[in-house]
Amino acid sequence: MKTLIQFLSWSGLVLSANLVAQEKVTAQQFVDLQEGNKPFAGFRRAHAKGACITGEFVSNGALAPYTKATLFEAGTTAFVGRFSIAGSNPTAPDLKAPVRSLALSFNLSNTEQWRVAMNTPPAMAVTNAHDFYQQIVAIKQGPDAIKAFFKEHPESKDFLNWKASYTPSSSFALEQYNSINAFYLIDNQNNKQAVRWHVMPRDNTPNTLTNSDNALFDELSSRLANGAVSFNWVFTLASNDDDETNPAVIWPSSREQVSAGVLKIKTIDTSEDARCHDINFDPLTLPTGIAATQDPILNARSAAYAESYRRRAKEKLLEALQ
Ligand code: HEM
Repeated sequence: MKTLIQFLSWSGLVLSANLVAQEKVTAQQFVDLQEGNKPFAGFRRAHAKGACITGEFVSNGALAPYTKATLFEAGTTAFVGRFSIAGSNPTAPDLKAPVRSLALSFNLSNTEQWRVAMNTPPAMAVTNAHDFYQQIVAIKQGPDAIKAFFKEHPESKDFLNWKASYTPSSSFALEQYNSINAFYLIDNQNNKQAVRWHVMPRDNTPNTLTNSDNALFDELSSRLANGAVSFNWVFTLASNDDDETNPAVIWPSSREQVSAGVLKIKTIDTSEDARCHDINFDPLTLPTGIAATQDPILNARSAAYAESYRRRAKEKLLEALQ
């Protein structure tokens, strides 16, 4: 159960004592909860520990019929990204983190960007921000409350099944990262197709890990010194039976998949002034050809990321002015 508790606090959530159940959770309340009583000034309030990466996406053109996003025309586009672990502590030990993450940012033109943030679980345990918040309240209350929470939330089934079968790998390069939330692809005729995506490791061979607090980031640095790390970027197309607004249900494996191309990660920068730290990987920063669904978690994410960004940007500014 301890592992489950750790896992469910994957966004670094720590309950503030005075918060009570509410119908609608605000971004401020979420971020208060995530940062806990001792915020780490200048850092992200979730996924605080991370390293910046650069690379390129080589599109094979297979997704282009479904979306007018220029990224998916055949060709190569550079990106800046970030590997991270869940939690609000920027010096947390890598191997204790229950969730690992990959974020990407594409500059598609002077006016268009796409920000993508993915995690290792393929589903949320709940369907909306209020229940996610309550889930954390239950975690704070202890094992009996968590048990009772899941008893009252049968929609957690897919998440719990996945968690029971998941073994963390020995590298960021060997994990599968998932969009969790669904989005729409919009084609040239403005038809929309709901999709989720995941990135899957390609021939990234296992490596030896140290016991250091920075084991995963060190491993990735030495791996990249020997060559690029690659992932296949795969899109799963929803059928009419799938509810794209529900992030707790994993779609059947029989759904059509389109492999859109290869993500090649080439460099890593673990310094605190690296480029990606100033990026807010807001999942609603979308280019033409990709649109948000009405998934309530997706919309809650955007507001919470903005609040976290506001706090850390202000702290950085105040630090610079001192
Ligand atoms: C209601 C649910 C969620 C809340 C409240 C939440 C909150 C946050 C916050 C506040 C940040 C820090 C943003 C910043 O300062 O730049 C963050 C980062 C992040 N979140 Fe979430 N999150 C949620 C769900 C998700 C989901 C479903 C995913 C994965 C699909 C996800 C993936 C990430 C990643 C990868 C980062 C780090 C991005 C980076 O490297 O900067 N989050 N989250």
